[in-house]
Amino acid sequence: MTAKIIDGNEIAKRVRAEWKHRVDALQARGVQPGLAVVIVGDNPASQVYVRHKTKACADMGIHSEKHEFPADAPEQKVLDTIARLNANPAIHGILVQLPLPAHFESRRLLEAIAVEKDVDGFNLYNVGALVAGDTVFPPCTPFGVQCMLEYSNIPISGQNVVVVGASNIVGKPMAMMLMKKDATVCITHIKTRDLAQFTILADILVVAVGKPNVITAPMVKTGAVVIDVGINRLPDGRLVGDVDFEAVREKASYITPVPGGVGPMTVTMLLVNTIQSAERFAAIQMPAASKVAAAAG
Ligand code: GUN
Repeated sequence: MTAKIIDGNEIAKRVRAEWKHRVDALQARGVQPGLAVVIVGDNPASQVYVRHKTKACADMGIHSEKHEFPADAPEQKVLDTIARLNANPAIHGILVQLPLPAHFESRRLLEAIAVEKDVDGFNLYNVGALVAGDTVFPPCTPFGVQCMLEYSNIPISGQNVVVVGASNIVGKPMAMMLMKKDATVCITHIKTRDLAQFTILADILVVAVGKPNVITAPMVKTGAVVIDVGINRLPDGRLVGDVDFEAVREKASYITPVPGGVGPMTVTMLLVNTIQSAERFAAIQMPAASKVAAAAG
C-alpha cells in the first residue's frame, strides 16, 4: 500500500478561499479583522513563524500588527501592551508567540489575554472550555489537523486515535478535539514504555514530539492515517517531521508530508479564529448600532 498524501498547502488554499468571502462580507460592513502578535526575544524559529502569520494576514485582508520586545524587557511592559490590545476595538485576536525567554512566566502573559481575543486558545478559560466540549477558539495546530481529516473525508467517530506527545499546544488539545468527535483516544508521551504497542493499534496516528524518526514503519498498522506535526531541521539543512516518511508511506493509507503538511494549516486556522472573532465582535456591535440609529430616526 502506498499512502495518499494529504496536501496541507492545497487544503489551506481551499479553506482560505472560503474564509476570504467572510472577510469581504465583514469589510462591506466596515469591519476589518485585526490580529496583534506579541513577540519577545529573538528566537529565530519564532521570527519565521511570525513572518508567516503576518504575511498570511496581509494576503487575506486582515490587519496585523507586531509588538516586539527585546529578551530582557520587563514582563510588566509586555502585560501593559496586552492590556492596551485587549481594549483596542480594531484588534480581534491577540497571540503571544511561544516560547518566551526563561525569566518570563508564560502563564501570566497567556492569562492576561482577553478570553474573547485569545485566538491561540491557550488561556485557561479556553483550555477548560475545550475540555468541557464547548470551545471558544480551538488551538490552531490541532484545529488544522482536524480540518485536514475532515477535508480528506477520513472518518473520526469510533476510530482508534493515538496521539504521540502530550504538549499543551498540540497533544492534549488534539486528544480533546478528537474525543469530542467520538474517537477513542490514547495519549502517549516521553515516559511511555514500548511506544509501539500503542501506535500499532492506531487507525489515526498523530505525532507531535519534535524528534526525527520517532515513528518507523513497524510501529504503524497497515492502512493507518498518519499525521506528522513535527518540524525538525537536520544537520544537512533538510526539514523533516517526526515520522520516517519514506518507509511509513508504504504502509499507511494517508500521510502528511513535512514540509507542506500540518504547517500551512496552523497559520490558516489562526486566520479562521481571527475572522470568527471579528464576526462575533461585529454581531455584538451591529445590533447595538442599529438600535441607536432606530432611536435617532
Ligand atoms: N509556538 C509554537 N507554536 C505556536 C503556536 O501555535 N502559537 C504560539 N503563540 N506560539 C507557538
